[in-house]
This record gives sequence, C-alpha cells and structure tokens, in this order.
Amino acid sequence: MDAPLLTAIDVGTTKICTLVAEMVSETEFEILGVGLEPARGMRKGVVVNVDEAGAAIRESVAKAERTAGFEIGQALVSLAGSHIASVNSHGVVGISGQRGIEQEDIDRALDAAQAIAIPHNREVLHVIPRGFTVDGQEGVRSPLGMHGFRLEVEAHIVTAATSSVQNLTKCVESAGVQVESYVLNPLASAEVALTDTEREMGCIVCDIGGGTTDLAIYIEGNVWHTMVLSVGGNHLTSDIAHGLRLPADLAEKIKIEYGSARARDIDPSELFSVTPFGEEQPVQVGKVDLAMIIEARVDEIFNLVLQEIKRSGYDGLLPAGIVLTGGTAQLRAIRSVASEVLNLPARVAAPENLRGLVDSLHGPQFSTSVGLLKWAARETLAAARAPLPGRRGNRSKTMDDGITKVSEWFRRLLP
Ligand SMILES: Nc1ncnc2c1ncn2[C@@H]1O[C@H](COP(=O)(O)OP(=O)(O)OP(=O)(O)O)[C@@H](O)[C@H]1O
Ligand SMILES: [Mg+2]
Repeated sequence: MDAPLLTAIDVGTTKICTLVAEMVSETEFEILGVGLEPARGMRKGVVVNVDEAGAAIRESVAKAERTAGFEIGQALVSLAGSHIASVNSHGVVGISGQRGIEQEDIDRALDAAQAIAIPHNREVLHVIPRGFTVDGQEGVRSPLGMHGFRLEVEAHIVTAATSSVQNLTKCVESAGVQVESYVLNPLASAEVALTDTEREMGCIVCDIGGGTTDLAIYIEGNVWHTMVLSVGGNHLTSDIAHGLRLPADLAEKIKIEYGSARARDIDPSELFSVTPFGEEQPVQVGKVDLAMIIEARVDEIFNLVLQEIKRSGYDGLLPAGIVLTGGTAQLRAIRSVASEVLNLPARVAAPENLRGLVDSLHGPQFSTSVGLLKWAARETLAAARAPLPGRRGNRSKTMDDGITKVSEWFRRLLP
C-alpha cells in the first residue's frame, strides 16, 4: 500500500508555497512536490483581490502538482491576518459510571469550553486543550483512561472573521483544491521552530513575514496565547523606499543586500551607491543611515511584541525566550535587537533535516510551509490511532476512507 500523502498551501503576503510530501515513517516525510509563486492580491495576510490571489494560488498548486506528478485534491492551508482573535476558556463535564474517561468525554469537555459567545460573523478555527483537571486534581496532561466524576479542560480558542476565511477558501477552491482545514500561521511555524524543551520551559515563537508578525506563546508544552500583528518586512521596505526616495523593488534589494537592524554595529565609513528618484547619477549612501531607518521599525515591531506578551499576562513565564522565524528573521542583527528590547534570550529558527526536494526550503521563510506538513503528519497519525467513531474534527467521508487506509498503513509500520 502507498504511504500517506501530506499536502499543504502556505498563503503568505509575499509568496505562496504549496508542498506535497509522503510520510516515510512516524517522524519523517519526504518532500515530493514544491510550488513556489510570488503572492498577488494579498495584503497583511488577507486576500484583498480574489481573482489575483486565486490566480497566484493556482500557479503555485500547478507547479507543485507538476513536480510531484499528481493532482492535489485537498490540503491544509495557513491562515493569518488582523481578523484573528484568541481567548482562553474553561469547560466542565460530568463522567458517568466507573468506565474511566474516554475520548468522547474529552470531546464533550472541549465542546463545553467552546460554548462561548462568538459573534455571528466569526468562526472557530482551533480549540486546543491547554490542560485538564480531574476531580479537582490539576495539571493532568492526558486524562484518557483516568477514573473520575468531573472532567475540566482549559482550552485556547482561536476565532477568525468568516468573510476572510470564505475569501481564502474561494481562492483555494479555484485551484481545484478543497481546504482540509485551516491552521493558524504561528501554530504551523512553531511545529518547525520550537524544540520540545522550549515549549515545556515557556517561550514565544515570532514569525515575521512580509505583511504580518505571527506570535504564539507556549508554556508547559501547550499553546497559551496566539496573536497576529499587521506589521512585517514589507514595512521595512516601504520605510527605506520613503526614507531614501527609491522605487520599492530597489528598496527591497538594498534591504536584503546591505540592511541591518542595529546601526551602532555599522562602520560609519561603509557606503553603497543607489540612484534615487530625481537623480541621474548614483549617489553614495551610508550603510549606517540605512540601518537607522530599519532599526526604528524593527524596534517598533519588538515593542509591539513586548506589549502583547504583557497583555497576555505571561511575561515572566518565558525563560526559553523568543524564537524568531519567517523571511524577516534573516535580517542582520535582528536577534540582538529582539533580545535587547524583550530582555529575553533570542535565536533564529528554520526548517532542518528535510528529505526530498528541499533545495529551496531551508530558509526561515519556509517555517510555516514545512510546519503545515508536520501538522498534517501529526493529524494523520492521531487519526490513525484514534478509534473511528469518537474522532473529532470536520473531516469528510472521503477523508475518513483515507484515514482507514492510513490506519492499515500505520499498523504495518508497527513492529
Ligand atoms: N535576507 C533578508 N533580509 C531581510 N529581510 C528579508 C530577507 N529575505 C527575505 N526578507 C523579507 O522577508 C519577507 C518575506 O517573508 P516570508 O516569506 O516569511 O513572508 P510571507 O509568508 O509571504 O508573508 P506573511 O507570513 O507575512 O503573510 C519580505 O518582507 C522580505 O523582504
Ligand atoms: Mg508567512
């Protein structure tokens, strides 16, 4: 029997990345198809032009299908934007009899936690258990099989604006692909960026892309807080374009070639030449001047991150610090600025140990894309392990058929 296939579409503000992979073992997959396409019709993580965004997604999917050699029917899709909101909620259910807690009871508790007032124009994206309490005993990681009369769950609930979700769904479906489910950007990035130890100790993952900065706080192994800020690397580019009076594409090139997030590290005698609007000859600009423009905005981004950490109430609970990823994490000295502003340890993370068609996938800008595949792999395994009737989620009949096949494949893997 064929190994299960994983398919993902990362719809970013600057690029669309479609990936197809094959699960080769419980912990490994091999990338078979890559479709990388510059994004169009997107702004700050959301679709602003359905026709253009749809066309870019179609191109990306077609490229991935060509390299993988087959058609993509459905995929996990990343979601971001300022319309995302998150809240922590509590659910309680009674357990009858002496049979021990079953998956069905956990599902009921999560449903109870989800019974919060959600405006009619919003929908629930994720309900993630943060921890359980059984008969007053707190800190239970997995209550399955435990005895008790009262099961409580603390859940992190992520909601999104229905209209934004529908616009993206329309674009993805125009490429002939069904959205299997949406995954919030920072949760996908965290799959790649964070180590188990960091999640346990407490840390924040910060994916700075082109149009958004995606945050997720992990404590005791679970997600405690998520947030999407509408600021990213494109703001740096437009600051440079305005500050040095350059066209946007030239500002982008200069940012990548000469940019740095910390002006005091730059030798004042270092210069580069550009031709601004209104000049006929190139002029010399100090790298330190460029760095000052960049530093102001990077400083602002990390101050927003700091505010968000404080607002969440979890400052002081993040000893493992901040893990930076996303395309803008490649900016020189960004790690030092993050560490200084937040007063936390900082490091930059990118996808590692990939197999297959991976030449173009090593940078931190691919953390969300590869993270989606990891998420899909985890869901596939969880579904294969769960008994068929009690399974949660919005999977279709065809998915369930697929999972039955995966269960068989998975059983063959077991010794
Ligand atoms: N070497 C570099 N130095 C600085 N910035 C860089 C570098 N390489 C890429 N970037 C920036 O990274 C950004 C793109 O990152 P990424 O691909 O993660 O964004 P995205 O996923 O398309 O967007 P988003 O997730 O915000 O919707 C762009 O703003 C680009 O200028
Ligand atoms: Mg991104």
